[in-house]
Amino acid sequence: NQVCDAWNGYDEAQCGIQASSSSKILIKGGTVVNAHHQEIADVYVENGIIVAVKPNIKVGDDVTVLDATGKYVMPGGIDPHTHLAMEFMGTETIDDFFSGQAAALAGGTTMHIDFVIPVNGSLSAGFKAYERKAESSCMDYGFHMAITKWDEVVAEEMEIMVKEKGINSFKFFMAYKGSLMINDELLLEGFKRCKSFGALAMVHAENGDAVFEGQKRMIELGITGPEGHALSRPPMLEGEATSRAIRLASFVNVPLYVVHVMSIDAMEEIAKARKSGQRVIGEPVVSGLILDDSGLWAPDFVTAAKYVMSPPIRASGHNKALQAALSSGVLQLVGTDHCAFTSTQKSFGIDDFRKIPNGVNGIEERMHLVWHTMVESGKISLTDYVRLTSTECARIFNIYPRKGAILAGSDADIIILNPNSSFEITARSHHSRLDTNVFEGMKGKGKVEVTIAGGRIVWENDQLKVVPGSGKYIEMPPFSYLFDGIEKAEAKYLSSLHAPVKRFNSAT
Ligand code: URP
Ligand code: ZN
Ligand code: ZN
Ligand code: ZN
Repeated sequence: NQVCDAWNGYDEAQCGIQASSSSKILIKGGTVVNAHHQEIADVYVENGIIVAVKPNIKVGDDVTVLDATGKYVMPGGIDPHTHLAMEFMGTETIDDFFSGQAAALAGGTTMHIDFVIPVNGSLSAGFKAYERKAESSCMDYGFHMAITKWDEVVAEEMEIMVKEKGINSFKFFMAYKGSLMINDELLLEGFKRCKSFGALAMVHAENGDAVFEGQKRMIELGITGPEGHALSRPPMLEGEATSRAIRLASFVNVPLYVVHVMSIDAMEEIAKARKSGQRVIGEPVVSGLILDDSGLWAPDFVTAAKYVMSPPIRASGHNKALQAALSSGVLQLVGTDHCAFTSTQKSFGIDDFRKIPNGVNGIEERMHLVWHTMVESGKISLTDYVRLTSTECARIFNIYPRKGAILAGSDADIIILNPNSSFEITARSHHSRLDTNVFEGMKGKGKVEVTIAGGRIVWENDQLKVVPGSGKYIEMPPFSYLFDGIEKAEAKYLSSLHAPVKRFNSAT
């Protein structure tokens, strides 16, 4: 059938036959939760937009009515960190924009921001390639752009990306020596450029030179299995790079976003910087918040290799500390770093952990696992949940309140979560193309029963009804709230230079 054709290789039973035709939806009687407020109210949607949020909305019989009594009506999740159809470590991630997004929708995420990887360093070629990859999209998406080399052309292209292509964030890799890694000089150049356009600088913070040394050590010791991956790049290397990036960002007075914060070491650098007033955002990912490194020591390679990602999943204790940092506001939002490689792809590194493609899943599991781990356990409030999974991402990337809110005028990206229902994660039943799941067997309370994306019911009764090509590219404008007033701090710094300059001039 038309809607499911793109699900080649899929279990057709999981796939609906047609997209919901009604463009008018009323969600009745639920508790509407936004980042700052919750109330019992109805939500009325027409043509993809939320039209009204108030009690007792009356509608005609051409409207699809969903009863949400006893359930939570919340903004769809926004995943700030994914890699769909990414070419990496000699292969390509198994989830493309269609299968990855379908999985996301089944888990209550209605938008994601993916990383465009330049082609031979070219940003415009990379952007074109990702435009093509994203043609099959069934939910809304935005792009970050990675910077993998530096020259005049790249510097110029950054401006084009921001002013013409809707990109407001650039990721710099301080790791992956010999492929994506850049040095401090480039990092500084990139930071300055970001600042001039109001674009957010993002870093993958690990010391790539030291990781390279650590990997050599492991191989010399004869440690070639997946555990060597974690042993070769300990938390101190993440802490060092996080600290360096934070200090360099402070030096040029630019806001900084640290992606996939995996360790106490990195988290404490962020805490320290924020305490001093620096604008630093820290993004933990669901694997780092929930798992520990024990899986990397599993005796069979396939099990152990599925946990390989960078920075590595850490020893038990780091996960709980990251959860606490999230509930206390040291860290601000949760991503996934969804970067799915099958066990066949992972087995490229059967004799050498350095060749195991790095990455784990999470795009489908994030909303449930954060609910279960943080809300069910009483670590955060309902409103915090919405902030951490949706609203803060929309604010940071400057698309709030179009996204991240249940408000009249916002896009109709909505989930209905039943706190009394339960979820269970298995590779057999998930919607990713992966043959494994790093969260295999986890279960808990709280289930996303309905997902509405762009005003269409795309997930209901455990059925997906997704249409390739229905997702929209969301342009993200520069100068988010993180840039408000930074020039004032700058003016203060410049005026503090006046005294020494005057002294120098009068002496000569
Ligand atoms: O292991 C990971 N994280 N793979 C994806 C690329 C990245 O560094 O984000
Ligand atoms: Zn089908
Ligand atoms: Zn990374
Ligand atoms: Zn990533």
